[in-house]
Amino acid sequence: MKKYKIAVLIGSLRKESFTLKIGKAMESVAPTSIVFDFIQIGDLPFYNDDLEPQPPKEWVAFRKEIQAVDGLLFLTPEYNRSVPAVLKNAIDVGSRPYGKNVFGAKPGAVVSVSPGNLGAFGANHHLRQSLVCLNIPTIAQPEAYIAGVADMFDDEGNLTNESTKKFLTSFMESFGKWVAIHAK
Ligand code: FNR
Repeated sequence: MKKYKIAVLIGSLRKESFTLKIGKAMESVAPTSIVFDFIQIGDLPFYNDDLEPQPPKEWVAFRKEIQAVDGLLFLTPEYNRSVPAVLKNAIDVGSRPYGKNVFGAKPGAVVSVSPGNLGAFGANHHLRQSLVCLNIPTIAQPEAYIAGVADMFDDEGNLTNESTKKFLTSFMESFGKWVAIHAK
């Protein structure tokens, strides 16, 4: 069976991030065709066009990592009804220099995560707006708004909420099919 390498971008730098824990839970229920590659984005210098003639080594490495994958999984918390700056910065770095967007045409998915009741709907849809600009064919259904996340894990960080586990399993199954159709 063909394996698809998926870059997983987490919009939180917190060690105990709920968003990261959801990402790990998704990895554990993913179909065997999908291989997760958690990409570090916290060390990327802020995007600045002036640096392009000699881009920072972190930008160069990040762009190479994204070029090497078959698909993209964005997991985001919500900061002030939008996408945390660290994730937006990674998107901006990968989208430039002009004409060299490394994300282009790679199949993607968005999962938003919040301890609150709204499941970070605002961040999810702000993020989708950028993904349109990057020409990422992003799965429309199922949508994934993970609400009430603070009560879903045991002390070791394992997902204990069975209905969420079931949902993430079927989400990953759908995403696996989406990737198989759209990956180059
Ligand atoms: C938040 N949080 C938050 N939550 C939410 O549902 N909607 C929001 O608009 C915001 N805004 C916001 C702004 C800032 C600056 C912070 C630090 C936090 C709460 C947020 O969901 C919570 O801290 C999560 O735990 C962050 O995700 P991780 O780090 O657990 O993955």
